[in-house]
Amino acid sequence: MLVKDSMFNIQRCEVSRISQVNFDDLPFGRVFSDHMFIMEYADGKWSQGSIVPFQNISLNPASSVIHYGQSIFEGIKAFRNVDGRISIFRPEENIKRFNKSAERMCMPQLDKNVFLEALKQLIDVDNKWVPESMEASLYIRPFMFSTDEYIGVKPSETYRFMIFTCPVGKYYAGDVKVKVETHYARSVKGGTGFAKAAGNYAGALYPAKIAQEQGYHQLLWTDAVEHKYIEESGTMNVMFRTGNKIITPALSETILNGVTRDSVLTLARDWGYEVEERRVSVEEIRQLLKDGKLDEAFGAGTAATIAPICSIGFEDANVELPPYSGWEFAPKAAQTLIDIRRGRTNDPFNWNTYI
Ligand code: COI
Repeated sequence: MLVKDSMFNIQRCEVSRISQVNFDDLPFGRVFSDHMFIMEYADGKWSQGSIVPFQNISLNPASSVIHYGQSIFEGIKAFRNVDGRISIFRPEENIKRFNKSAERMCMPQLDKNVFLEALKQLIDVDNKWVPESMEASLYIRPFMFSTDEYIGVKPSETYRFMIFTCPVGKYYAGDVKVKVETHYARSVKGGTGFAKAAGNYAGALYPAKIAQEQGYHQLLWTDAVEHKYIEESGTMNVMFRTGNKIITPALSETILNGVTRDSVLTLARDWGYEVEERRVSVEEIRQLLKDGKLDEAFGAGTAATIAPICSIGFEDANVELPPYSGWEFAPKAAQTLIDIRRGRTNDPFNWNTYI
């Protein structure tokens, strides 16, 4: 049945798939909720959006996204609060970043109110899919891609914006082993590293595969010119603690401006840590490890949440970090984020948007 809503058309599925899902053992990104959002761009404007049953989409083989990769995405999470309400974590930040990515990739802007309303209504339609468990959440994947049926190289004139959601468990099952990458580069000055562009992830697959074959989970990317300075990890920003200092690579056009990164740094400052956002050399981290002064290292990202790094692979050696059981900052930050997102404590920075 098609219901005319104030802002979107809503077509509900006839039979929900939710009874087939084991919410006690959720993988990451393989289980999809019943509905998805879809909106088309043509003739310089967006059409009215629709919420429809989750389904395959069909594309003309000449669709420009397949050939030239005009495709961007976001990762956002929604949480079930202890009082039963559902909150979305800092969606405005993702919407801003989405529009920055769109600008860099010559794609149209999305109205932030339409984007936010689409998120809220889609989650509301699939509200039963938001997991109850403290370890799980509803991962939201908004994305946009070009749809012109033309194989000349130029910005497309037509696009599709979509959102689907997945109830998810952990992205990384345990502590993460990273390898400092000193040959391949994820991004360069003047490139697209700050954008959440699909191609950035495609280009990173091969170096990450080599690292995985060597027994690592992820790379620690370094600058493309000298491979001396740490940038980010494949799916998350990175941070280091030494004593009362939290050190992290400063944002630049080669690094993704992570929402979890900003949230963790905000908590750190609030708790009286000295936060240093600056160039962080591989040598500095190696020396801190050597001197026994690197207390913690972790990744921060929407999917990864806070992922403790247990070992760092340098060109000639793997160096272990102190055991996680003795860490003071990352576990507290992870727990505080859970508590804020679940409404178990107050939300001093107004990070929750309720649907
Ligand atoms: C996220 O953290 O949401 C991401 O998009 C990273 C990754 C899963 C690609």
